[in-house]
Amino acid sequence: MRALNQKKAIARSVQKPKHRRIAVPKLDTRLTDAEHFLLPTYNRQPFVLTHGRGAYVYDSAGKKYLDFLGGIAVNALGHAHPRIVKVIRREAAHAIHLSNLYHNAYQGPLARKLAEISGMDRVFFSNSGSEAADGALKLARLCARTASDAPDKPRAKHRILAMQNSFHGRTFGAVSVTSTEKYRLPFAPLVPGVEFVDFNDLADLESKFDDTVCAIILETIQGEGGIHAVTEAFWNRARSLATQHGALLIADEIQCGLGRSGRYFAYQKFSSNPDIVLVAKPLAAGLPLGAILTTEAVASRVSPGLHGTTFGGGPLICATALEFLGIIESEKLLANIRARGVELREGLAKLAAKFDFIREVRGEGLILGLELSIDGNPFVAEALRQGLLINCTHDFTLRLLPPFVITRAQVREFLRLFELVLAKTPKSVSAAPAQATASPRRLAQSASR
Ligand SMILES: Cc1ncc(COP(=O)(O)O)c(C=O)c1O
Repeated sequence: MRALNQKKAIARSVQKPKHRRIAVPKLDTRLTDAEHFLLPTYNRQPFVLTHGRGAYVYDSAGKKYLDFLGGIAVNALGHAHPRIVKVIRREAAHAIHLSNLYHNAYQGPLARKLAEISGMDRVFFSNSGSEAADGALKLARLCARTASDAPDKPRAKHRILAMQNSFHGRTFGAVSVTSTEKYRLPFAPLVPGVEFVDFNDLADLESKFDDTVCAIILETIQGEGGIHAVTEAFWNRARSLATQHGALLIADEIQCGLGRSGRYFAYQKFSSNPDIVLVAKPLAAGLPLGAILTTEAVASRVSPGLHGTTFGGGPLICATALEFLGIIESEKLLANIRARGVELREGLAKLAAKFDFIREVRGEGLILGLELSIDGNPFVAEALRQGLLINCTHDFTLRLLPPFVITRAQVREFLRLFELVLAKTPKSVSAAPAQATASPRRLAQSASR
């Protein structure tokens, strides 16, 4: 009898019409669950993004957005690039994770490739940018250690110089070298020995550098801080002071690196290399992977057991990162980044001439910022209405991080939509009109993500 009932139930369910109308729930449980069960660390937009194709993403209502944020500089190949999808499928069926106790087929080749394009010698794989930044600070302290230092006592050479207006991540080490007070102060006391230098201020740098400094860390192009590039003079002075005082120069290229500036690395426009390069965001085309790239001299201080990670550098993720770097080469994306970057800059310059609240257009390649004299957040909201994903950082700078695969037609589409956004957004009156061009130090204090 029970079996018969079950059969009937199955038959009933099979006979249900295929395209039954699905009642739209009044409350979307995906949103209410998020609201009730996630730690409230983000002010998320009130809709669900479901999938993407190339430079576009779609929400659960079917609305299409041109994605000029790319998951904050992560989705450099856009969404669902066929070669990335293929590698992930293939490797998922082989081995997702093995362990750093064993070799896998892709970690060594990926390290070689990263060393070749960066001018570095050795690589450590992490799971995120913050973890890479933390590891780099540990390496700096390690390299500063001398044979006469007691292992458990503070030593003279321990100071780390970081930049005002910087962002290096959220872990304790990374947030200790991040200047924004609202990210730092609630967690004090932080890692000791960190001092901030005014970005691109040579005199401030020189006054703080001495033999007690073990590292200077800077973003070659500050991303979160509103797209400010390091000047050649500051880079050269940081390099020479670091060499003179036996400190490590750490270039955080987590946001601007791996092609975004139009070169593999933004520091490659200068004539000298850093001692450590940090990468993450686009490296594995959306899968979480970061890396510390460094010199043989730094690597010579490292021995097994000193530093490590469970997940970093697994086979699936490294195979994907190798494919990502292969695609940059075979699709000639560095050239595309430079060409599309120029078109965007030219289009934005025209808009700046038309809308007087645009104070400045900054950036290189496909990392661009528009500094406004008024609050930028309403523009992000209007952009969403117009089907455009952009972001506002430090309240006054609109940040554009389109994918490397963006086409000329999509740049034109963006400029058309963006002009509408600039025209339609209700303009707020700035509390202090000069605020947007205030010193990076003050901006750092008022920053919001
Ligand atoms: C320059 C820079 N460094 C470090 C980080 C931290 O990386 P993650 O969020 O992967 O920890 C970010 C993230 O935005 C970044 O932009």
